Order: sequence, then structure tokens, then C-alpha cells
Amino acid sequence: MDRRTLLCGLLALTTPVVATACGPGAPTRRPGVGSGKPGDRIAALADVPVGGGALVDVSTDGQLLLLRPAETELRAFNPACPHAGATVNPPTGGSVACLAHGSTFDPATGEVRSGPAKQDLTEVPVRVMDQDVLLA
Ligand code: FES
Repeated sequence: MDRRTLLCGLLALTTPVVATACGPGAPTRRPGVGSGKPGDRIAALADVPVGGGALVDVSTDGQLLLLRPAETELRAFNPACPHAGATVNPPTGGSVACLAHGSTFDPATGEVRSGPAKQDLTEVPVRVMDQDVLLA
């Protein structure tokens, strides 16, 4: 039994909704667009705080990091840390951090600030239309 199965089993005992999310057909989200395609809506612009960011689901199997450094500026990144692939967190305290080994990234540009990562986060093209964020 793997850790996910064990955790889902334990949580299902206390929260019936988890049983659905952890069932045999439950999607596995990975950093990136997954099966998302251009034009897919991935978030409402209002879900991304100005001066911050958010991890958002893409299609049934992907996840992106949206960064919104200003009211009129929004960029999307693959949240996979370039060091070893852990998912980075939305910005707090002025930087995007990877808790796996401590790399930090600029919360506006995704540029690496401190390692061990040596590369920037990979940007993913998105566009905003009618207050929705879409894959471009
Ligand atoms: S995976 Fe992010 S710092 Fe190692």
C-alpha cells in the first residue's frame, strides 16, 4: 500500500468527501498544463490576489502557479521547482519558495533568487479575457 492510498483511507474514515477525491479514478495532478489546451479557463482573475499568487488546477491533471505582481499584470508558471521537481508555493513574504530544499524565486518574474535551483521557473503562456484566465 502506497502512502497516498493509506492517507486517503485514513481521511475517508473521517471525511466522506475525501473518499470520492481519492477513489480509483481520482485524477493525479502534476505541475504543468497536463491535458489542458489553449482556450481552457483555469481561474477567475479575482481568485489571484494582487501582490500574490495562487496554485490553480488545469484540466483534470495539471497545476499552474499564477503570479499577479500588479493589478494589470499576471503571469503563469509551471510550479515544478527546477532543482528536483517539488511544487513551489504561492508567494509569501516577498518570494516564491520551494520548501523541499529552500530555493526561492522572484514573485513577479519567476527568476531564481537562491538555490539550490539554478534555473528560473518555466513560464506558461496565458491570457485574460472577461475576467477569466485562459491558457493561451
Ligand atoms: S526541489 Fe525545490 S529546492 Fe529542491
